[in-house]
Amino acid sequence: SWSAVPAGPPDPILGVTEAFKADKDPRKINLGVGAYRDENGKPYILGSVKKAEELLTSSKPDKEYLPITGLPEFTKKAALLAYGADSEPLKQGAVAVTQSISGTGALRIGGAFLARHYPHSKVIYLPVPSWGNHTPIFRDSGLEVRGYRYFDKKTVGLDFEGLKADLLAAPEQAIVLLHACAHNPTGIDPTPEQWQIISDIVKERKLFPFFDMAYQGFASGSTSQDAFAVRHFVSQGHQIALAQSFAKNMGLYGERVGAFSLTTADPEEKARVDSQLKIIIRPMYSNPPLHGARIANAILGDKALYSQWEGEVKGMADRIISMREKLYSTLTHDLKTPGEWGHIKNQIGMFSFTGLTPPQTKALAEKAHVYMTGDGRISMAGLNSSNIEYFAESVNAAVRG
Ligand code: LMR
Repeated sequence: SWSAVPAGPPDPILGVTEAFKADKDPRKINLGVGAYRDENGKPYILGSVKKAEELLTSSKPDKEYLPITGLPEFTKKAALLAYGADSEPLKQGAVAVTQSISGTGALRIGGAFLARHYPHSKVIYLPVPSWGNHTPIFRDSGLEVRGYRYFDKKTVGLDFEGLKADLLAAPEQAIVLLHACAHNPTGIDPTPEQWQIISDIVKERKLFPFFDMAYQGFASGSTSQDAFAVRHFVSQGHQIALAQSFAKNMGLYGERVGAFSLTTADPEEKARVDSQLKIIIRPMYSNPPLHGARIANAILGDKALYSQWEGEVKGMADRIISMREKLYSTLTHDLKTPGEWGHIKNQIGMFSFTGLTPPQTKALAEKAHVYMTGDGRISMAGLNSSNIEYFAESVNAAVRG
């Protein structure tokens, strides 16, 4: 039956982990997937998460099904974390929100909802480049994917002129995907002033903004600062779609905890949107998993756990920033590696878009056992004081050819 099924390529991000696992060299380093590692290169379970789990275990919870849209206490708190207590649509009870299978699931629910119910356009604009999974998610949701300029190779910064020109030239009412903070893969975010201009253009062109917020807290170390773009758009009267993930900021990767929300005109409209979210979700996976949502709910709902968590997010963000500085100074000052490496220090969030070329990334994997995505993105969290020098020396060798 399957003789005509062609072999597909490995996933551009998760495929890197497979190659890393197959490598037996003790010096190997995995900078592919964006998963935080501690100073010893080990996965990190946040103290707040451990405490929340202890509290949960001692309360002996059942294993019943969640409702289709998930744990209501959790989704309420997730929306509050994103939109903030001053959000008008939240105060009015006009935010439709559902739990999701982390950020990917939230994007997919959003893509399916827009494909089915957004009457004005089936076109979604993604930044170039964007997270490798965005295109397949939205294409498989039934949307037509197009790109807007984002990254300027020459300045290794934001191509703001290109971004503005492309959004201004987009057909009215098209959907535009915006990374709320810590843009993946480039690590380059618009400034608050630039966000204000983007918001004005989105309004002028009547575009529909869909925010992907996978890194709230990870960019600046502050969850409210990182929500600036989302909150600014909402305060300007935009209706938005929002995908949230708790994979990174709570380290709940495999628990698959996220939320998808839409701001609506009023509670009556919200109720209709809620009903359609259920109709989309039920045939996909019926209802979401329990455990991770309970953990996130416990943290978001308890003052002491919440402030411990905020400290831990900041700790992760700070360790990444210190690795950026160390890598920059090793390449520039110690090794005098040819090229300009200032972007490593300036980029934001979990990743650095190094500028290494596909042949250089290939050489790094084959000769130095250092793994990253083919576009030269490295997960900064995979670096630590034991491997950063070996990494910098390997990059130096690859650049010098
Ligand atoms: C990444 O970009 O590495 C992460 O978002 C993990 C993933 O699922 O790709």
